[in-house]
Amino acid sequence: MKKVRDHYFKKAKSEGYPARSVYKLKEAQARYGFLKRGMRVLDIGACPGAWTKFASQSVGRSGHVVAVDLNPLSVSLPNCTFIKRDIFDLQPDELLPGGCPGFHAVLSDMAPKTTGRRDVDHLRQVALADRALDIATMVLYPGGALFCKVFQGEDFPQFRRRCSQVFKKVSVFKPKSSRSESVEIFLFCR
Ligand SMILES: C[S@@+](CC[C@H](N)C(=O)[O-])C[C@H]1O[C@@H](n2cnc3c(N)ncnc32)[C@H](O)[C@@H]1O
Repeated sequence: MKKVRDHYFKKAKSEGYPARSVYKLKEAQARYGFLKRGMRVLDIGACPGAWTKFASQSVGRSGHVVAVDLNPLSVSLPNCTFIKRDIFDLQPDELLPGGCPGFHAVLSDMAPKTTGRRDVDHLRQVALADRALDIATMVLYPGGALFCKVFQGEDFPQFRRRCSQVFKKVSVFKPKSSRSESVEIFLFCR
């Protein structure tokens, strides 16, 4: 497994991304092709900024990315607004700056600081995914997409059901670049 981590880690470094996580989003983009030029994208749990950078490149100068995290980004991008906040303290209207009417896609790679207790980490992470779903429901255009990380465990089926109540199609996606022993999985919802 270490070899795989090193491969993606080195690749990210050589391609100018601050984290290997970028390949999870790149794989999703290769599968679903949901990020397009001119789009407005909300990236929640964005630090250090690998997804933000890839989203920013995908939407181009005519698009815009709003990135939110508790911690600052390590990238500076021309078409990106960064909001340093806890997602639970942020109201949806604060995410729509300058009369921005909504987003075409919401990304959430949020994860809590892990405690090592699988049940506790699971519940905390699902609470973050739930919040991402609530925000997406409020800020997405009709036809918009949510790509959201969630930890597998007891509450995963309930979270998936919630997504199915809001979106027409919900697909479970485990990128190759996500370590097989990791409990993380992604839902692509449209
Ligand atoms: C796995 S990292 C994200 C990596 C990022 N997608 C990238 O590619 O660079 C998870 C992030 O979720 C953020 N996070 C956790 N809880 C949060 C909260 N309540 N509000 C905002 N961000 C949160 C953490 O600060 C952390 O930076």
